[in-house]
Amino acid sequence: MSADALADLLADARAGVAFTGAGISTESGIPDFRSPDGLWAREDPRDFSFRRYVASPALREQAWRRRHALWQAPPRPNLGHRALADLEADGHLAGIVTQNVDGLHQDAGSRTVIELHGSTRRVVCIGNAPRAGTPQGCGFAASHTWALARVEAGEADPRCPRCDGIVKTTTVSFGQNLWPGVLEEATALLERADLVLVVGSSLSVEPAASLPRRAQRTGVPLAVVNDEPTPLDDVADVSVRARAGGVLADVAAAVPLRRQASA
Ligand code: APR
Repeated sequence: MSADALADLLADARAGVAFTGAGISTESGIPDFRSPDGLWAREDPRDFSFRRYVASPALREQAWRRRHALWQAPPRPNLGHRALADLEADGHLAGIVTQNVDGLHQDAGSRTVIELHGSTRRVVCIGNAPRAGTPQGCGFAASHTWALARVEAGEADPRCPRCDGIVKTTTVSFGQNLWPGVLEEATALLERADLVLVVGSSLSVEPAASLPRRAQRTGVPLAVVNDEPTPLDDVADVSVRARAGGVLADVAAAVPLRRQASA
């Protein structure tokens, strides 16, 4: 059973890196993007571009309304997030490189989490007229709770308290550049990896999608847990076609037993 093979790989790992996508958070109630019931099946991705966010107060107000509504019952980490946190605590994972912006890895207790696409948990000033996908803010930054409190107080499109610029979560929208240094940080963690574990990603968005493939090409063992085929299945050492939560929980529970057996 490939979950057994995954447990064997993880038991031997001392610097593994999990590379996660939206699929690890669907069991927390957050839709992914490209599954048949994903976000892009009902929303226009162009409405999630940096340019539109800057140009459209109505779009910003809609985004804040949705975030405020979601935060009334915040999503919680699921078995998959907690399993990865346990594997880090037990010394098998060095950290996580995630495409997700939901903060659930940190909520589950993971300590080294590199958020390639930013986070809904932090907001920054992006200035009044940022161009070409590069925020030009004054430096103001705050927790997302600051912005939600402004929305709750009736400010539909919270503005920067210092320069009156547009405020945005640090999520990287389409057409927006990745934050400086994030890709280098993720690359450095993966270059030190002795195992790469891809969980819940269609591996369809660059430059993120290239990271696990580049690691695999250097000979690092690769495992994939996904409930649909992925482009890396044919080069993976282990590929588990299943929902992540149950598999990762079972594997994380089995790893200590393997470690004892080989001690
Ligand atoms: N367990 C395992 N796999 C799952 C689960 C689950 N519970 N739920 C969904 N999946 C799989 C889906 O089958 C799909 O292959 O996870 C994958 C999610 O793929 P995407 O929806 O494309 O999400 P992701 O790969 O994270 O997208 C990358 O695209 O739109 C941008 O910025 C966005 O970060 C995102 C990026």
